[in-house]
Amino acid sequence: MIVQISDLHVTSDGHAVCGVVPTNAMAKRAVGAILRLAPRPDLVLVSGDLTEHGEPEEYAALANLLSPLPMPVYAVPGNHDRREAMRSAFGNAGFLAAQGPLNFTIDAGPLRIVGLDSLVEGKSHGVLLPETLDHLDRSLTGAPDRPALVMLHHPPFVCGIAHMDKIRLLDGAEELGRILSGHRQVKRLITGHVHRPVLFTFAGIPCQIAPSVAHQVALELTLDGPASFTLEPPSMLIHRFDEAHGLTTHMAYVDSAPGPYRF
Ligand SMILES: [Fe+2]
Repeated sequence: MIVQISDLHVTSDGHAVCGVVPTNAMAKRAVGAILRLAPRPDLVLVSGDLTEHGEPEEYAALANLLSPLPMPVYAVPGNHDRREAMRSAFGNAGFLAAQGPLNFTIDAGPLRIVGLDSLVEGKSHGVLLPETLDHLDRSLTGAPDRPALVMLHHPPFVCGIAHMDKIRLLDGAEELGRILSGHRQVKRLITGHVHRPVLFTFAGIPCQIAPSVAHQVALELTLDGPASFTLEPPSMLIHRFDEAHGLTTHMAYVDSAPGPYRF
């Protein structure tokens, strides 16, 4: 079982982002929610925007917040992250290369998980560099019979929220689709960035945007709306795989609700 959390936007001092989003406290609540899951997840994926400004002090705060998790944590950068600070922060985990984009490939049980770096430092939109696309192609070619999950921060499709669509994956999406089309073992493409759950079929593969464990982008499906967010309940995704039934993705709220009650 895999938990995906996204868009934590952790700060160095725990202040409320935009005056109303206590992102560090919310990340702590998400960690508590993961610890309450039964069975215990095998690993945690973080689909970008781990920090608010990509500063080393923020990654230190993040490490402290994630430290209660007993399972491995794998992450790709979002537009709010910074490559070298994140590489340093996750250096001891051993899944990131010493230089270049923060791509990774791991095998977890029967699954291959490929993380792709779509960060353009200082910009909000995403790009997949040729070496990142090559990393994906090689990772999938190397294990054609292993079901795969591919994660990046920026969605490669238009979701209908205008201000987020302007900063989606703007370069490399077509090539991403071409590569995915050639590797039918990919079961899911998973992203963050939009701060709300959205499902799309991309290159024939279900592509799921994760909600944020902090603030949510307002559901304003307009052609040219303002950037706005809400404090709708934070949530996360749980990906469950078994050989007989394939990959199922659940959305789970961070905060517990009354129940369960027996039918
Ligand atoms: Fe974000």
